[in-house]
Amino acid sequence: MRIDVITIFPEYLTPLREALLGKAIEREKISVGVHDLREWTHDVHRAVDDSPYGGGPGMVMKPQVWGEALDEVCATSGEPPRLVVPTPAGQPFTQRTAVRWSHEPWLVLACGRYEGIDQRVIEDASRRMPVEEVSIGDYVLVGGEVAALTMIESVARLLPGVLGNPASAEQDSFSDGLLEGPCYTRPEVWRDLSVPPVLRSGDHAAIARWRRDQSLERTYERRHDLLDSMSEESLTARDRGR
Ligand code: ADE
Repeated sequence: MRIDVITIFPEYLTPLREALLGKAIEREKISVGVHDLREWTHDVHRAVDDSPYGGGPGMVMKPQVWGEALDEVCATSGEPPRLVVPTPAGQPFTQRTAVRWSHEPWLVLACGRYEGIDQRVIEDASRRMPVEEVSIGDYVLVGGEVAALTMIESVARLLPGVLGNPASAEQDSFSDGLLEGPCYTRPEVWRDLSVPPVLRSGDHAAIARWRRDQSLERTYERRHDLLDSMSEESLTARDRGR
């Protein structure tokens, strides 16, 4: 997978080269390009923003600069990329979004700052490529960079050969619509706290049932909204009795 990020703060994206993602880049599972938006400015101040039409606080990112940046970064003779614009006003980013994007060959993330990017940039890009405005949660960050990092990490770990153990992605919270339950490792007793005995029983069916119950309880307590939106078929009669 190819991922390009356009930002006025390229250094914000340096964590991409660390740890798991760094390894994925080294192993050529993903290639990442980070581009400084100011490279597409033409004035001495390298201005990327201007005051909003209609008045109000803050500044809006200029369409000309973004237009040229996207023309160049998204240029191709083949299939265009999927353009992702992180914004608190976007559709919610979920595990489902991450799974869907993990099948894309090419993502371009356009990180806005200030009050946002002139909407015509999104409108114009939509004429040539699929565009999604996406939010990572109901809170407001200073810009799209941290949201971009979040999205890239959750997509990249789903790519074949990126995680050490592919089964860990299948066990994730949300992959079956529920939160993942608690996990334990040695020692068996630590500060007088014991590992739940069932996990040491060797009874795989009992362990699977216990884990399912823990997931259900945790989801019930912490994220009731997830249970409400689960389809009928994904909860068994036994689940419903819990
Ligand atoms: N930019 C600022 N806040 C954001 C959020 N919550 N999600 C995505 N991009 C953002």
